[in-house]
Amino acid sequence: MDPKRLAASKAVEYIKSGMTVGLGTGSTAYWAIEMIGEKVKSKELQVKAIATSKRSEEQARDLGIPIVPFAGIGQIDITIDGADEADEKLNLIKGGGGALFREKIVASNSLQLIIIVDESKLVKHLGKFPLPVEVVPFGWEKVFEKLGSLGCLPNLRQDKDKPYLTDNSNYIIDCAFGEIYAPAVLHNKINSIVGVVENGLFVGMAKVVIAGFENGEVKIFSANPAPG
Ligand code: A5P
Repeated sequence: MDPKRLAASKAVEYIKSGMTVGLGTGSTAYWAIEMIGEKVKSKELQVKAIATSKRSEEQARDLGIPIVPFAGIGQIDITIDGADEADEKLNLIKGGGGALFREKIVASNSLQLIIIVDESKLVKHLGKFPLPVEVVPFGWEKVFEKLGSLGCLPNLRQDKDKPYLTDNSNYIIDCAFGEIYAPAVLHNKINSIVGVVENGLFVGMAKVVIAGFENGEVKIFSANPAPG
């Protein structure tokens, strides 16, 4: 089975009926949403969900997963999402698919963030993948300069011949830092630049990283014990 699908299948086991579930974005989270949809359809699971992107919301609605807005929900019980990189401390780079702000606000309001990846995403140090930073379009040129002065090679993400627009109508600047040794420090420096909405460093947020391997193995890296 596809390693992304294997990881998704293990993650879905953490969901119980009655939970509010955060739905991630990307080609790995896609599988988790499909599997949740199957369980909802067969009435094995009764859940409410909140999505981290318009495309995940659309997928969930098509599968009959009830979508709720932030207003009126308490805590999100579990969010299952992908990542572009995960290090040994379960710190992450996210946002390759352009959904980092929504992903972060959903994750930061979740009791548990479960990350699903294939083995290629496991790294010793974050940073080989350029760090996505979501910025407000007005004044983006100044933010671009300031990001560069933090020691990266910044690149305004493009969609054909125009700047790529996030679901929140913002731009993304992909910042090639090379290896990042102090992700929490860099996270705070980036977010203190006026014009930055959020950056794709998720530090200390993931409780579990589930990795699928080409040989069919699934490994669970955990900040807490796995469910019984
Ligand atoms: C979406 O913006 C991202 O944070 C994704 O979660 C990340 O890019 C992983 O995507 P894939 O599962 O498609 O690799």
